[in-house]
Amino acid sequence: MKKKVVSMLMCAALGATLLAGCGSGSTDAGSSDASATTDDGATTDDGAADDGATTDDGAASGDVITIGFAQVGHESDWRTASTNSCQTVFSAENGYDLQFVDCDNDSAVQLEAVRGFIEQDVDYIIIDPIVSTGWDTVLTECEDAGIPVIVIDRTIEDSDKYVSWVGSNFKTEGLAAGEWLKAYTEAKGISDVNVLVIEGSTGASATIGRTEGFKEIADANGWNILDSQSGDFTEAGGQEVMESYCKSYEGQFNVVVCQNDNEAFGAMTAMKNAGVSYGVDGDVILISFDACTAGLEKVLSGEINADFECNPLAAPFVEQVIQALQNGETPEKEVYMTEHWFVNEDILSSITVNGESQDLTVVDQTIIDAQY
Ligand code: AHR
Repeated sequence: MKKKVVSMLMCAALGATLLAGCGSGSTDAGSSDASATTDDGATTDDGAADDGATTDDGAASGDVITIGFAQVGHESDWRTASTNSCQTVFSAENGYDLQFVDCDNDSAVQLEAVRGFIEQDVDYIIIDPIVSTGWDTVLTECEDAGIPVIVIDRTIEDSDKYVSWVGSNFKTEGLAAGEWLKAYTEAKGISDVNVLVIEGSTGASATIGRTEGFKEIADANGWNILDSQSGDFTEAGGQEVMESYCKSYEGQFNVVVCQNDNEAFGAMTAMKNAGVSYGVDGDVILISFDACTAGLEKVLSGEINADFECNPLAAPFVEQVIQALQNGETPEKEVYMTEHWFVNEDILSSITVNGESQDLTVVDQTIIDAQY
């Protein structure tokens, strides 16, 4: 129980220094490095570039470290990459016993999973929160049990009872999509911008941030957002929403923003079936988020015009957090994943977001081969 006592002390100490609302206010969503490697890291909130953790010294003490991971579900290619990353890093051969629960996008199941981990008395709990609110009670239970919680990907907005968060700045992703569209439409001489948005899952911080960021640029430029509905981050959801949009807004839209690649695949099917052309040679500009392998293939083929990366490879950085706690050190409070912005056409070299310029990466096969 010695380690638990250390953990409890760490929790108490860290609780006082954690920021409420992780994920806000950062401008460091990525570097200007145009290469798309799968392990090129993250940026800590003190701005220091980070190399990623090694995974071969998992149990520093020689003891097996037990981790409970309450994963969102299996709704997208991104989610599969995130799960694979955790299962690879927290493997038995690296000294971990990973208890994995796929919560199938059900918040009640996720809360139950966390309570199950408390009952099992695991050493650490990782949560990728399906929704950003409703967490304080269960996180208090974790704290009372002396189990440190690490949040990944999406943020928790109504509690600070976790030691670290590792993930993406979703508002920056939305702003980047907006700034790219502004520069692109100007370069193409398109003055009338009529947008349909297919949002992610309702209540997810990924949805909230991307929606807010894009809307900020849309409002500043007087674009018309005709509609914005949830496609639940799934291909089927994206197709269903786009089918309904094609009927309701026939001939009225020239931009579709899908908040992840799988929704974009569904939207493409719906537009194809409705006789709507899209992509670099089409009538509709198609924007996506995630930039997983299958998404980048659609960028290379020109079916998706631009894809804004959401990096799912958080696990090595979570391992660094765990190693810091194991060593009695204070881990970083917030770790932002490095992310790239991918396009098909070589007509814009960079865009500026939050006052920082970042290169756009024109997709080729080498980049796709290196992506998750
Ligand atoms: O929270 C990250 C988002 O969740 C990804 O963009 C999406 O693909 C996933 O389902």
